[in-house]
Amino acid sequence: MKVLFVSGDPKPERWTTPLKTLLPDAEIFVWDADGPPVNADYAIVWQPSAALFEREKTLKAIFNLGAGVDSLMALPALPPALTVVRLEDAGMSVQMAEYILHQLVEASRGMETYRDQQRQGTWKIHRPIRRDEWPVGILGLGQIGQRVARTLADLDYPVYGWARSEHSLDGVTSYAGPGELGPFLSNTRVLVNTLPLTDTTRDLIDYQLLRQLRPGALVINVGRGESLVEEDLLQALDEGLVSRAVLDVFRKEPLPADHPFWQHPDIAVTPHISARTLREATVEQIAGKIRDHAGGRPISGVVDRSRGY
Ligand code: GLV
Repeated sequence: MKVLFVSGDPKPERWTTPLKTLLPDAEIFVWDADGPPVNADYAIVWQPSAALFEREKTLKAIFNLGAGVDSLMALPALPPALTVVRLEDAGMSVQMAEYILHQLVEASRGMETYRDQQRQGTWKIHRPIRRDEWPVGILGLGQIGQRVARTLADLDYPVYGWARSEHSLDGVTSYAGPGELGPFLSNTRVLVNTLPLTDTTRDLIDYQLLRQLRPGALVINVGRGESLVEEDLLQALDEGLVSRAVLDVFRKEPLPADHPFWQHPDIAVTPHISARTLREATVEQIAGKIRDHAGGRPISGVVDRSRGY
């Protein structure tokens, strides 16, 4: 079996060495833009160039080194029948839950006020947190959204979830489909986006959506930048409909140096780090799936090409 590793990592051996250990019978290749075809059975990819699909004609499946497959789906050269497999959790959901919890607690417990008070040497106690004032609405109830929902529900925050299809989760009030987006939004003060980027979710978070949130909304985007209409967020912040935004993903990454988000007093910017890909868990998951696929066993995480994720 031949496995081709295709990513921009300048040290591909960090991936291929453990991969060799887990797949001792496989021949492992690293993509060389100028090299000949290797006739790979499987490719492990992160944002490959279209040349991969022009050169490698024997691929049985490709494994994405991330949960989001939007950049792969956007490649016209991607063969329509090729099996595409996305990363499933692999240690990412716990990181996302932690990132979101941190941002929520910063706001709900007014931590910035206490930091200001410390600077002034002020000892002043504000009223205790009322969780019912911080209802959280999670867009997307995949593995990541569910983990976030569970974490916040365990801490007794009111949690709402919205997804394409019905979900039943303990402690979470779920809404499904475009028809139930309105009631979901009108319950939500803290909006968390974990949705994959598809034609349906592109530009979903626009002014029209933001104005339906509860007053003083906090918007946290850890999904994809293209799901958020940036000018509409700025307008909603200007008008006080949204009081703060925490953004980890952007339409253009890295975020351009002159982008207004950098300096905005009510926007926190992080450089797509809410969940880092963990090499060990990732390689283990993909190697296991390659073994299963090669052995004719079913694998999970196969992208439904009609849904786009
Ligand atoms: C990261 O953004 C991923 O899709 O895993």
